[in-house]
Amino acid sequence: MKKVCISGSGLFTPAESVSNDELVVVFNAYVDRYNAEHADAIAAGTVAALAPSSSEFIFKASGIKARYTVDKAGVVDPEIMHPQIRVRGNDEPSLMVEMGLAAAKQALANAGRTAADIDAILVACSNMQRPYPAMAVELQHFLGAGGYGYDMNVACASAAFGVQTAVDAVSRGSARAALVVSPEICTGHLNFRNRDCHFIFGDAATALVVEPLETATGEHRFEVLGTRLQTQFSNNIRNNFGFLNRSEEPSRPWNDVLFNQEGRKVFKEVVPMVAELLVSHLTDLGIEPNSVKRFWLHQANLSMNQLIAKKVLGREPSIEEAPIILDEYANTSSAGSVIAFHKYHVDLKPGDVGVLCAFGAGYSAGSVVVRKL
Ligand code: COA
Repeated sequence: MKKVCISGSGLFTPAESVSNDELVVVFNAYVDRYNAEHADAIAAGTVAALAPSSSEFIFKASGIKARYTVDKAGVVDPEIMHPQIRVRGNDEPSLMVEMGLAAAKQALANAGRTAADIDAILVACSNMQRPYPAMAVELQHFLGAGGYGYDMNVACASAAFGVQTAVDAVSRGSARAALVVSPEICTGHLNFRNRDCHFIFGDAATALVVEPLETATGEHRFEVLGTRLQTQFSNNIRNNFGFLNRSEEPSRPWNDVLFNQEGRKVFKEVVPMVAELLVSHLTDLGIEPNSVKRFWLHQANLSMNQLIAKKVLGREPSIEEAPIILDEYANTSSAGSVIAFHKYHVDLKPGDVGVLCAFGAGYSAGSVVVRKL
């Protein structure tokens, strides 16, 4: 079994960002219109009036200030309230692949590699452009790589699951090097008319290069000391979108085929699950949690990340120990922990240990423990 490292990372960030204030203006315009249209029923008590959203609540409850989106115009139009995406021809790169390609090219450049060095491409993310052909195979085509590719979906934990799959393939020699690519257009499955969650998601794409430690040449290489995955069934984060929607009788309401969650329950149940995973994984590797220099955690909620790090460390984490990108990006699902890694790894010194940890629907959680070379 070969020793393996993460030798490069890449990030694609959409050009347009929507602030909390901008999002709240749109949501409240929708609420005003809805309440006016249903004024008689609301007065008669047969329809519940909608309550407005607020930027203060959003920041206090989540730590989010803004989010990037592939189409701001559609999101901030109260008549539309979702991204609008041009239908592309079958021979054009699909939007998710285009985003993934940008991140993949950057990750390859940072690793000092080219497409010719890659044998395996794993597109690991929450929502797929389509059922088939796999985005990974399309990405392989446009990148000009050989070998094989496939898509895998383990919701927000997808990147960690993808890294374990890549590490397994490279360490056993079934691939010379692998790319784990996580494109996310979370605004496409976000219900911007739901006050409880209209603020939580944003769009981005990330990529990581995984290759044998012996031959890697990237400037910032991280030996993978171990990976650990865990799943536990829950309906508290659920999206019922699927190919059988057309056949289901009666048809599901439109908002049932978008993202739904019980945020409070998720918070309460996922925090201990992830903290226990991290402590047991580090302990089994003989690493004292307080010696870990950095936790690149999934980015869904600021308090959640602080609490997980506090449970693992037994004290409050510093912002350097558990950096935050969700203020600028919101929750970008599988991309979140890799964005944190991408932005906050260059300063680590040889020998420093870090943990990339992703978690989300399923429930699913994954931990990747690395040491800077
Ligand atoms: N604006 C103003 N008030 C709002 C609001 C909004 N947009 N949305 C909800 N509220 C109100 C609620 O009505 C409720 O009022 P009440 O106390 O009078 O009933 C109050 O604020 C608290 O709502 P709640 O939904 O319990 O908020 P919260 O503190 O749990 O924060 C989340 C909501 C979603 C930010 C938080 O639960 C979370 O991030 N959970 C983890 C989710 C997660 O990690 N998911 C993974 C997805 S991949």
